[in-house]
This record gives sequence, structure tokens and C-alpha cells, in this order.
Amino acid sequence: MLKGEHRGHESNTLAGFCDSRHLTNQGTFHFELRVLEGSRDIVVDPRNERVKLYGLTPSDFKKKPVLADLLTPTESPREYSKVIVYAHPGDDEEWREASFHKEGMIRGFFSNHVNADIWAYYLNPERATEGGVDDHEQIVESILCGQKTDILPALPGGYTTMVANPVNASEIVSVLGEVFSEYPTPLKVPVIENSIRSGASHFRLVRDSAGRLVSVAAAELDRVRKTAEISDCATAPSNRGKSLMTFLLSQLERDVLGKYGIEDLYSLVRSGEPAINKAFRKRGFEYFGRLINNCRMPRGWESMNIWCKPCGPAFGV
Ligand SMILES: CC(C)(COP(=O)(O)OP(=O)(O)OC[C@H]1O[C@@H](n2cnc3c(N)ncnc32)[C@H](O)[C@@H]1OP(=O)(O)O)[C@@H](O)C(=O)NCCC(=O)NCCS
Repeated sequence: MLKGEHRGHESNTLAGFCDSRHLTNQGTFHFELRVLEGSRDIVVDPRNERVKLYGLTPSDFKKKPVLADLLTPTESPREYSKVIVYAHPGDDEEWREASFHKEGMIRGFFSNHVNADIWAYYLNPERATEGGVDDHEQIVESILCGQKTDILPALPGGYTTMVANPVNASEIVSVLGEVFSEYPTPLKVPVIENSIRSGASHFRLVRDSAGRLVSVAAAELDRVRKTAEISDCATAPSNRGKSLMTFLLSQLERDVLGKYGIEDLYSLVRSGEPAINKAFRKRGFEYFGRLINNCRMPRGWESMNIWCKPCGPAFGV
């Protein structure tokens, strides 16, 4: 059975995923589903009411009753209204027949630089209906048209940068907490501390000339697939527009390649925020689609744009 605070909300469908389940410090539940050729990761994320499945095929949904039940539960589940599959490319017709929609692609998400197609299935029409579509499309269009992509900014005089240590967790939480009234993962000191200490996340910081933390971003490292997701991007309101985020992205690209040999970077970026989309584009990231109502953010359900960049010698970057 599901452990901890979410136990009382568990549906029969999710109870089917019982074996080897564990609760992460992000508040999600991870487990492995056995398929013919091995096992596949599954993440249940009650906070964002979604289930993420990695490397599955449309035929797995036909063969495995527990997966079929996930899409057509007998009772309306409270834990999820969106099912997202990170799939190897191909099988488009079969995915569509199973009522999945392709929302985009993450370049080099799987090992050996293999792309992942992102397929979404919605359990209710409200979750599938995106507000502000025109604005979201216009933001991407204008950035793709006009923005130069080879920008490598310098820090303003007196500002400094460093890789974060676990002791910096409380400052990081206060900057993120000041900027985000709602966030998809828990903004708690022990959570950030643990993700730095365990090497799951590589944070970089910028301090102003008085030593105050003013900008932060992280790379969440997937050492097995050799990819990194850039996340937790925030600049204190008083310091915006000084290219601090663009600078941090450039440093993270270099850190992740140099320290961990990871060449494939991606980020899921708020669709309604021009500044963060612009910062990724300025560093040469490319746009690969939009995940509809993907997670809880300050404006409620927010859609996220996919930006990817292959770095390193293999790509001549
Ligand atoms: C997004 C954010 C991190 C950017 O930080 P920053 O240090 O100001 O970023 P940069 O200065 O490197 O780049 C931002 C660019 O967007 C531009 N910009 C800012 N607001 C803009 C707007 N409303 N429309 C268009 N461009 C805008 C800036 O002018 C700058 O471009 P320029 O250098 O060509 O002038 C910061 O605005 C922030 O913390 N926002 C709230 C948190 C958030 O949404 N984070 C992203 C989560 S995915």
C-alpha cells in the first residue's frame, strides 16, 4: 500500500502498482513495472495530479491490465488527471488510436542521445483545456523570430557565482519561496539540502556585491540516461534584466558537461513567462513543444514549453 500522507487518497487503480514502490523527497512515488524486456520507471505525482511513465509502448498498455486500468479507471481517481509517457520515437498511429496526444519531444532524453516523444492522455476535459493558448504561441513565435542565440553574458561588476553546497539550501529556499507562491515540488530546506548532498541536483548561484543570493538555477542530473533537466530558475525581482539567468544557464551547461559528461540538456519552462523562454533561447536552446496544464505553478495549472540543447564536442558546441 501507498505509504504516508497520500494513503487515504489512493485509488484502486494505483493500488495495483504496489511492488517496490518508494516515496521520494520530492513527494512523488517511484516504482518499476516489469515488462518483457526488463522494467520501466513509473512516477506517481499526486501534487501535480499526474502519472509519468518512461519507455513504454502502446502495446504495453494492451498487454498489462494495470496500465489499461490507469487510463480507464472504474472510479474517478483523485491522484491524477493526466498520464504522460516519455516514449521512444515511432508508434505514432498506435498512440493516437489509444487516445494519446503528442505534446512534444525531448531531444536526447534516453541514453545514447535517443529522443523521447511526449504523449499525453487526459482523464478529464478541463485538464486538457489550455487557457491563454494565443499568448503562449505568440511568446514562442516572437522569441524564435527575433532572438540572437549566441549570447554569453558577463556578470555585473562585484557580482560573483558559485556552485551551491548543502549549507546554501536555506538561502536557495528563501529566494525560490519569494519568487514562487506555488511550486510543483516542495520548497523545503531538507529537500534541497538532500538533493545537493546526494548529487541529484547541481545548483549554481549568483550573489550581488553585498554577498546576497540574487539568482539561482539547478541541473537535475539523470546519470543513467545521461541527461540533465534545468530547473529551479529564479532571479530576485530587484535584480531582473541583468542577464543573470542567461549567465547561470551558460555556467550550468559548462558544469554539467565538464563534471558529469552530460551533453543533453532540456528544460520545461513556463509558457506564459517571456523572460525565462527568452533566457533559454539566448543560450541557443531549441523549442520542441508545449506540455498542457502540466504542473501546479503560481497561476494554477500552467503549461510548460520544452527547450533542449545538445552540448559538447559531439555536437560541435
Ligand atoms: C525568468 C527569470 C528567472 C529571468 O531572470 P533574469 O535574470 O531577469 O533573466 P535574464 O536577464 O538573463 O533574461 C531575461 C530576458 O527576458 C527579457 N524580459 C523580461 N521580461 C520580459 C517580458 N515581459 N517580455 C519580453 N522579454 C522580457 C529581459 O529583458 C531579458 O532579455 P534581454 O537580455 O534581451 O533584455 C526571472 O524573471 C524570474 O525569476 N521570474 C519568475 C520566476 C520564473 O518564472 N522562473 C522560471 C520558471 S520556468
